[in-house]
Amino acid sequence: MSGTGHQRRAVSGMRPTGALHLGNYHGALANWVAMQRDYDCFYFIADWHALTTGYEDTGSIAAHTREVLIDWLAAGLDPAACTLFVQSRVPEHAELHLLLSMITPLGWLERVPTYKDQIEQLKDRDLGTYGFLGYPVLQSADILIYRPDCVPVGEDQVAHVEITREIARRFNGIYGREPDFEARCRTAAAGLGGADGAARYAALRRAWQEQGDAAALAEARQLIGAATGLAALDRERLLGFLTGGGRAILTEPAVLLTRAARVPGTDGRKMSKSYGNTIGMREDPASVAKKLRTMQTDPARVRRTDPGDPDKCPVWDLHKLYSDESTRQWVQSGCRSAGIGCLDCKKPLTEAVVAQVEGFRARAREFERDDAVLQAIISAGCARARSVAGATLAEVRQAMGLVAP
Ligand code: TRP
Ligand code: SF4
Repeated sequence: MSGTGHQRRAVSGMRPTGALHLGNYHGALANWVAMQRDYDCFYFIADWHALTTGYEDTGSIAAHTREVLIDWLAAGLDPAACTLFVQSRVPEHAELHLLLSMITPLGWLERVPTYKDQIEQLKDRDLGTYGFLGYPVLQSADILIYRPDCVPVGEDQVAHVEITREIARRFNGIYGREPDFEARCRTAAAGLGGADGAARYAALRRAWQEQGDAAALAEARQLIGAATGLAALDRERLLGFLTGGGRAILTEPAVLLTRAARVPGTDGRKMSKSYGNTIGMREDPASVAKKLRTMQTDPARVRRTDPGDPDKCPVWDLHKLYSDESTRQWVQSGCRSAGIGCLDCKKPLTEAVVAQVEGFRARAREFERDDAVLQAIISAGCARARSVAGATLAEVRQAMGLVAP
């Protein structure tokens, strides 16, 4: 919508935590893969964000970045269909971060829930830094610099997208004001496909402003996005005029909440690197099978003859992700009647998980042995990201009056 093309744009990032596990795959990556055909996607590895919670030991950032990238490709992200890059290789993010930091009230940052939570949880880390407090400003810059329509993230990141929207609104309110704004908007509306487009825009704007009709707002944004031959400045005016304020130099993206299926780890708790209960996306199949064989089941099912309850069993949560309807029915009735044992139950599941892991491993192989291919993918992604980011930044500098003589 923000570009001249019709395809909506999505931006998301992931910190370089090292090789990804099935929880990361089902929690985020699978959704990213599904989106790449329908959206103009920008996906990046947030290596600067890794520094905000761990500036001392940076020895593994490069290796972790490489592993994450390989897992992305193994999962099916296609560099020909989406833009894959590394945050620190697109320095435009840093410049926008600096500029946004000037207008971001300290109170907003102190109130972000993850700020206090992380300080509570990561007691062994030094989080008393300027960089850590500014984490959401950096994330806002990451997002706003691409002027996306949406940001696909999990529940834990919603507050960060919220503050991104607030920062965009504040920026536009400060730097997007023009004395003859309304007159310019009316002229610009003529570019929305003649009198019909202009009338439709006016009606949708009224429906949003007077009745808070969110569908009307979305449709109006789409109308603006689909208009070919609308100058960038006029597009910003029309977007800004919809919601008040001034010119929308930075657009407010929507959260696209990833439907998070529960992915249990081998001990039954949520699969997480910090619990040490993960199954890696590219883990050796024998090791995957062994982890599933010893995986926690319904604790009340002690003997083979005891009936079990799938709703109390983490193995069942995996069946929900991996098994078809008939297998799931077989598990339900077999477990509740003690007709099957837990090892029987795990057998089709293990086959499905191993098949998936083998697929990831096969796709990863060519990248694992060829750094030149990885480098080429990242170089191309960074170049595309920089060209989009640079265009936003030029407008931001202009709007802020940062123009050299
Ligand atoms: N904070 C995100 C996380 O921890 C990673 C991230 C950084 C991100 N910049 C972003 C996500 C921009 C979405 C958009 O997962
Ligand atoms: Fe869990 Fe399957 Fe055992 Fe039932 S039979 S307790 S669902 S592993």
